[in-house]
Amino acid sequence: MNILIKQARLGIHDKTKPTSPKLTRPGITLTDRIRSGYHRIWYEATQALRWSRGTYRETPIGTHPHLTPSQQNRIEELSKSYGIRFELRYPPETSLFNYGYLDLLDRAQKSLNWNIPQQQHVCDVGSANFAYAAALQAFFLPSQLVGTEVDGHRLYCNGRSRIDYAQGHIQDLPHTHYIVADYRQYQHPADIITVWYPFVTPKPLLAWRLPLSLFDPAALFAKIANNLVIGGTFVMINHSPTEASVAHSIAESVGLVCKGQYVHHTSLRPRAQPAVLTLWQQS
Ligand SMILES: C[S@@+](CC[C@H](N)C(=O)[O-])C[C@H]1O[C@@H](n2cnc3c(N)ncnc32)[C@H](O)[C@@H]1O
Repeated sequence: MNILIKQARLGIHDKTKPTSPKLTRPGITLTDRIRSGYHRIWYEATQALRWSRGTYRETPIGTHPHLTPSQQNRIEELSKSYGIRFELRYPPETSLFNYGYLDLLDRAQKSLNWNIPQQQHVCDVGSANFAYAAALQAFFLPSQLVGTEVDGHRLYCNGRSRIDYAQGHIQDLPHTHYIVADYRQYQHPADIITVWYPFVTPKPLLAWRLPLSLFDPAALFAKIANNLVIGGTFVMINHSPTEASVAHSIAESVGLVCKGQYVHHTSLRPRAQPAVLTLWQQS
């Protein structure tokens, strides 16, 4: 029922909510526009080609070489608490990646006293090849987990595409899906929406080899607000306190309300700056 009411609200909201200007932003140089044009050609070519060689499964080796003692201890702790061993399913780099994401979520939950009901519909926005899907599964124990990615057909040097890897990463995970879609046009309600490291300034998007036409954080966040069921939670992770502050203003401008923030000072993997997790709800 809540979902239906929410969807009814969506139609009105979508029509009235202005989207942000895209290419007229200050700070975007001619070189940026040229780079953007180049990225656009590749992006559109891969979208048209939709290349896939089928599910690609990376080979695990069952262990992590070269961990520090503190990394080993923390991994042991997380493995026991969540009953998982990512290293049995993924190669060391992907496994450590998952422990890193789970570490942040786990510490944020404890610090913010964040109550997470199980069996929720969880949607992740901008999932890349969804290498961290297993961490989201372990943490949220969702009834459904969906990863959405606009550039899901991107080709890697080995002839595989992002969707091939994503399908391999989620292969053994229950009720988990990967969808290639522009989230700004994605219309599906969710109890929890996560977004890890969204682009809130244009330069990182260009560095990620995407065209500036995809830079529209206000429209992305507005869609997230629209897709959240009443009482649902939006979980945003940013690369640094500075980036989190930019994201904060954009989220507030689309009517989201901050419910708590956690700065991750003790990252499992070395980082230049601490990641910041912020919880949001609709006003
Ligand atoms: C900085 S990357 C982070 C990737 C991933 N969340 C992670 O933590 O590794 C941002 C991702 O968002 C995706 N993205 C950007 N705009 C999007 C949109 N409108 N809809 C879906 N995905 C989008 C990009 O293609 C990119 O993969």
